[in-house]
Amino acid sequence: MVESAIQAQKNLSQLRCIGCGRIALADRFRCEHCRDLLEIIYPGWEGRGPGGLDSASLKPLWRERRSSLEIPDQSGVWRFREILPAISQRQIITIGEGNTPVYELPHCAKSAGIHQLFAKHQGMNPTGSFKDTGMTVAASFARQAGYKWVACASTGNTSASMAAYAARGGLHSLVLIPDGKISWSKLSQSLDYGAITCQLKTDFDGCVRVLNEVVERMPVYLLNSVNPYRVEGQKTVAFELLEHFSWEPPDHIIVPGGNLANSSAIGKALREMKQLGFISRLPKISVIQAEGANPLVRTIRETNGEKLVPVNADTMATAIRIGNPASWKKAIRVIRESAGTVEQVSEIEIALAKSEIGAEGIGCEPASAVTLAGLKKLVQQRFVKPNELVVLVLTGHVLKDADFTLKFHRGDLLEGTPYQSESHVLKSHQRSPLVLDPNVGAVIDLLRSAEK
Ligand code: F0G
Repeated sequence: MVESAIQAQKNLSQLRCIGCGRIALADRFRCEHCRDLLEIIYPGWEGRGPGGLDSASLKPLWRERRSSLEIPDQSGVWRFREILPAISQRQIITIGEGNTPVYELPHCAKSAGIHQLFAKHQGMNPTGSFKDTGMTVAASFARQAGYKWVACASTGNTSASMAAYAARGGLHSLVLIPDGKISWSKLSQSLDYGAITCQLKTDFDGCVRVLNEVVERMPVYLLNSVNPYRVEGQKTVAFELLEHFSWEPPDHIIVPGGNLANSSAIGKALREMKQLGFISRLPKISVIQAEGANPLVRTIRETNGEKLVPVNADTMATAIRIGNPASWKKAIRVIRESAGTVEQVSEIEIALAKSEIGAEGIGCEPASAVTLAGLKKLVQQRFVKPNELVVLVLTGHVLKDADFTLKFHRGDLLEGTPYQSESHVLKSHQRSPLVLDPNVGAVIDLLRSAEK
């Protein structure tokens, strides 16, 4: 049943250049004519709809699959398979990605100055980040296409995810990461999942340059986010989110911006949902970057989105320490067509926002917290109105960067950085561990004073 549904949509997708519109071969990443990125299109949707079904039939079908025992149905990505490229069921590599929770954040809403705020927590994926939703599709495609090796350059989450999916799918994996600039927990994941992990003495952008040459020369399939199959899997977060809100779009979706594939994927999903009649209006999609890694903000402010302004990236939110983002054109298109915006936030604002999300019992990694920090600014600018419905996309789990959290609460996060003199604003949010003698009285005294 599942197999036949997947087979039924075979050959309905194609790769098209986002610049000149030419069609490319199924395993390419850039247009051979103009070198622009590629995106997946579904000519078969014209007239008949995905899998021959319209939105009224797909909504209950996707929801019913949540109670199915079929493996692809249990994935929050593959239960939406009608809007994904066709992959044979035998080739699907899944570890139960997607189906992530939506949490209400009442205290963060208050601190931002709005009535209601929700977070779609993509850090609740199997390897702890949103990358799994894209990786399941791209790794499955790699296996179906007969590749034995997959590879990525990464700030840590893509590599953790790729290594896991490769291991599950019997593929070999090669990881290039910037030496000393990713969190230990992310590095430990790719080691544990068996990837060949190389720490290059450069930054993320340098790793990308090296890897692009390696994949030109070797039969290795690139799983960075320029891979259009990753974008397709990452689309499903928007389908899940809209399903959660009974297909009534929120007013704003706010995402962190690094290599800019996630914002592109969410925008593509919403564009397709509108085209297919699931929704009648687009939420505004806004992208937030760290001040020290702000190429998209600069590109829009300084060139009106015409020409990428690369930067030498530096931020403690290491996941988004990216100065030369590959998917900038796709992201700009999404921001424009959804009437969203871009904003940048400081290291202090990121640290504060992260602790506020943590204090709601949710937690996230620093790169995800830029969304709350950015929201506060967008409310101040009146771009977001107090009564509007806002969703933050939290991209990584709090345990992805425990060092950051520990340093924050101990009070030494900003030591030796240019922001040290401003660190007093974080004081009231810090809860450093207390060291006591093993003495009941001392613990009770502490409880009493905490109660006051
Ligand atoms: N948040 C987290 C936790 C990330 O790991 C990343 C990107 C982003 C946000 C930005 O998403 O690149 O789609 O704009 N991490 C990549 C990696 C680059 O290698 O793990 P984006």
